[in-house]
Amino acid sequence: MLTFAGKIKISNMAKSNLTKTLVILKPSCLQRALVGEVIKRFEQKGLRLAGLKMCQLSDAQMNVHYAKHAEKPFFQQLKDAMMVTPVVVCCLEGVDAVEVVRNMAGATSGRKAVPGTIRGDLSMSYQENIVHTSDSPEAAEVELKRFFNDGEIFDYQLPQFSFLYAADEV
Ligand code: CMP
Repeated sequence: MLTFAGKIKISNMAKSNLTKTLVILKPSCLQRALVGEVIKRFEQKGLRLAGLKMCQLSDAQMNVHYAKHAEKPFFQQLKDAMMVTPVVVCCLEGVDAVEVVRNMAGATSGRKAVPGTIRGDLSMSYQENIVHTSDSPEAAEVELKRFFNDGEIFDYQLPQFSFLYAADEV
């Protein structure tokens, strides 16, 4: 247990405002050797890395994951681009994690994403846009189950937690 005078007592802390979200580090991220850079940004922000693994995505997974894009002209090339190399899937936790991570990722197109965001700094493309991030808490729950098996998401505590949030934020 970690305690600080006047700070959050981690063992007693309600965790209700902490949520989890999915990030996929796409083949464009691995091919350009940006995995460390992207994960560093999330860690430095204060998001907790609750799950992390490399995997090869399948056509069946992509059909489900990108079902809402099935009628789009870029559907097949999007799926191919996601399967060309392994990806790294991450589960990140924090208060408002879905919104925070989406803001950090920036607009879908790297050409339109503002500087300071992951895509704005690291991408020039719609498709090769470095990361996929869940777009709502509901989607995050479904997508985390899609890519992580039981026992692959870990519930440990960050020692600096009481310096990431005020007690009434968590
Ligand atoms: P992602 O967040 O993974 O969700 C759907 C993906 O479709 C998106 O990131 C882009 O990689 C891709 N995408 C969206 N629009 C286009 C487009 N016009 N051309 C190619 N790929 C696109």
